[in-house]
Amino acid sequence: MSIRLNCKYLRDFISDAELEAMRDETAAAQSLLYENKDKAAGSDYHGWLTLPADYDKEEFARIRAAAKKIISDSKALVVIGIGGSYLGARAAIEFVTSKNYNLTAVDTPQIFFVGNSISPTELSEVLSICEKTDFSVNVISKSGTTTEPAVAFRMFKALAEKKYGKEEAAGRIYVTTDKRKGTLKALADKEGYAQFVVPDDVGGRYSVLTAVGLLPIACAGVDIDALMAGAAASMEAFCDRDLKKNDCAKYAAIRNLLYRKGKKVEMMVCYEPDYTLMNEWYKQLFGESEGKDNKGLFPASVIYSTDLHSMGQYVQEGERILFETVVTFDAPKCDLPIEADAENADGLNFLAGRSMDYVNRKAREATVLAHTDGGVPNVLIECGKMDAYNLGELIYFLEKACAVSGYLLGVNPFDQPGVESYKKNMFALLGKPGYEALADTLKKRLEN
Ligand code: PA5
Repeated sequence: MSIRLNCKYLRDFISDAELEAMRDETAAAQSLLYENKDKAAGSDYHGWLTLPADYDKEEFARIRAAAKKIISDSKALVVIGIGGSYLGARAAIEFVTSKNYNLTAVDTPQIFFVGNSISPTELSEVLSICEKTDFSVNVISKSGTTTEPAVAFRMFKALAEKKYGKEEAAGRIYVTTDKRKGTLKALADKEGYAQFVVPDDVGGRYSVLTAVGLLPIACAGVDIDALMAGAAASMEAFCDRDLKKNDCAKYAAIRNLLYRKGKKVEMMVCYEPDYTLMNEWYKQLFGESEGKDNKGLFPASVIYSTDLHSMGQYVQEGERILFETVVTFDAPKCDLPIEADAENADGLNFLAGRSMDYVNRKAREATVLAHTDGGVPNVLIECGKMDAYNLGELIYFLEKACAVSGYLLGVNPFDQPGVESYKKNMFALLGKPGYEALADTLKKRLEN
């Protein structure tokens, strides 16, 4: 197990006695995931908890085969999905390969993520790329009814059929959706598309280790066996009910304690730009899981040192509502030496013989000390290398920390009732049948 929680910078903010006082509560929150499931809100969505061990091996083999076919017959893969049906796959690909994956991919297709906005500009760009290159489509929607991906899929389906004819197009479309229900499921059955399943007991934001994430991730050439093995290692390592023996539970307890002490924002920090989408995935995971009943830490994120030059001032001296969770890695994917320069015109010869990673580490140490001096608690999640195995460990660690945090907060970490409000309004304003009365009320409000 490579993940370690480093709490040494919390000493001025949380006492041993305060953490000790969280032991029973944290054990009880965990027992809602295990032995007291019948008392747990959202227990129908605990499937992710054992997924690294009991995932569908037959489907896993089909995912690998589908990825092999896509890699062999497509220069571009269009992944259509939003929220939990989008972020995990993109985050994993960028984490293991690069945020510049599409510029560096050689033996695997470029991957374009659409249907995660309603921007016509974004769609047009990817449509025009696909007009000129061989492409496949993986449309992902657990409900099978979400507007953003549905509209985008309509356009890419039409393009594929125009370009390849209906039959070949059908062989290039891969659908990931519910086993039984939803418009997308019905369409996939009718057209004979290859299908993969989002398990009933796994919610969207916890679904990256199902076909939702695994098919696009495998298409990028990432080792999905290693990813699952890392998650399985985390599942074994972080099941102790005692937070003293379980860094994942301890992290959940620390988050909750800081919230009780008045911190309102958790800022996820990383010094690797390839972590940017993991930050987005984290924000959805924790934001949708905890932000309800007028409660919950607001999940924010930064990439340092980049954002030290934009957000650093606020973090150091703004409202004291923040704490930082810093994700670190034992080593960068690659390092660069800093050479001596005979003229030393830039005055940087004091760094000669050092490496860029050394400078990055010193920036991190300097920042952690400055921010804690400024009253911002820092907790570090220390990880191994940035590879598929360690990513699996980290994904499971954060999913479990999120679930335990939600139960500690007293909310259901597996529902998202608030997301429906904008959808109802949007359907009404778009004239969807059945929303006429709401449409009248909204139009009057918009006119006045
Ligand atoms: O976490 C969630 O459940 C949501 O973010 C969904 O993933 C998102 O709304 C997309 O839903 P669907 O996969 O049903 O299209």
